[in-house]
Amino acid sequence: MTTAQASTAGQVLGLLLRGNGERSGQEMAQRLGISRAAVAKVISALRTQGLEIEAAPRRGYRLVSEPPLLLPAMVEARLKPGSLGLPLIHFPEIDSTNLEARRRAEAGAPHGTCLVAEHQSAGRGRLDRRWQAPKGSALLFSIILRPVLGIRRVFALNNLISLAVCRALEKHGGVEAAIKWPNDVYLEGKKLAGMLTEFTSRAEAVEYAVVGVGLNVNQEPDWLAGLDQPAMSLMAATGHAWNRATLLAQILEEMTALHDHFMAGGGDEMAQEYAQRSLILGLEVTVREGQAVRRGKAVGFAPEGSLLLEEDGEINPIHHGDVSLLDWEVLA
Ligand code: BTN
Repeated sequence: MTTAQASTAGQVLGLLLRGNGERSGQEMAQRLGISRAAVAKVISALRTQGLEIEAAPRRGYRLVSEPPLLLPAMVEARLKPGSLGLPLIHFPEIDSTNLEARRRAEAGAPHGTCLVAEHQSAGRGRLDRRWQAPKGSALLFSIILRPVLGIRRVFALNNLISLAVCRALEKHGGVEAAIKWPNDVYLEGKKLAGMLTEFTSRAEAVEYAVVGVGLNVNQEPDWLAGLDQPAMSLMAATGHAWNRATLLAQILEEMTALHDHFMAGGGDEMAQEYAQRSLILGLEVTVREGQAVRRGKAVGFAPEGSLLLEEDGEINPIHHGDVSLLDWEVLA
């Protein structure tokens, strides 16, 4: 099996990011097995895209700054070979990254492939809801996973991506978001992100899963106010615009670590972290599972992704459903 690599532009930028100061064209050409002319061509293309790269005679190239754009090379440069997110496929426009990921997975796209879009014409949420965002404002992406996993544990993937989003925001942005099982991330009592995990199976085993994320990044408060449920963006909460490319790389890096740990048997530990970051732990909730409505106290989360609901003194796992809190005040 080959390990997925960044594009040449991503690899050159990766070398510039990791080099303390200058990197010579000769050294980069040797490391990447390409010509110096090819390196110079990549540098010139990166500059055209808005990266500031200085060239000092006889010393080499130095990265000065990156633009606040979702440039694939900026994501790839921050990912290790074989990391989730490689290969990375960027679309200015697509119907839905989840739909495209499913089409590509059916056609054999490898584990880890990430599809990211500037705009979706048919972005989908859970329960056939729509997911919208103005072009170039949000992070809209889907990862194709081919884990060796029984379908009973597939919903853990949804929990892992929620954790990855929260970890990345906390570590790199100082933002403390909370998770509302099964698929929402909240900030300041309003929805910041939604996850949509879809999968196909064969003989009780997952064939592939598509983990989709819609994260509100740079939407303006006025636009958020027009949505049919209270929503938050990172810019609205922090007062500054965020770089979507670096944030995507940070989320993919966290997701890679979590996925590896989960597959190596770390599900219990992750369920504990999930509980610590949960908005509903210890609260009375109503859970809608299709036509059925259940009421109880959220007392924990199982390693395979389910909510543990205490109903009349008995603790039962709920595999999927829509949660509402009896007391919405706690969100504020
Ligand atoms: C929800 O909150 O209901 C889940 C929303 C998931 C939206 C994301 S945006 C990227 C990916 N592509 C889609 O069509 N949906 C997911």
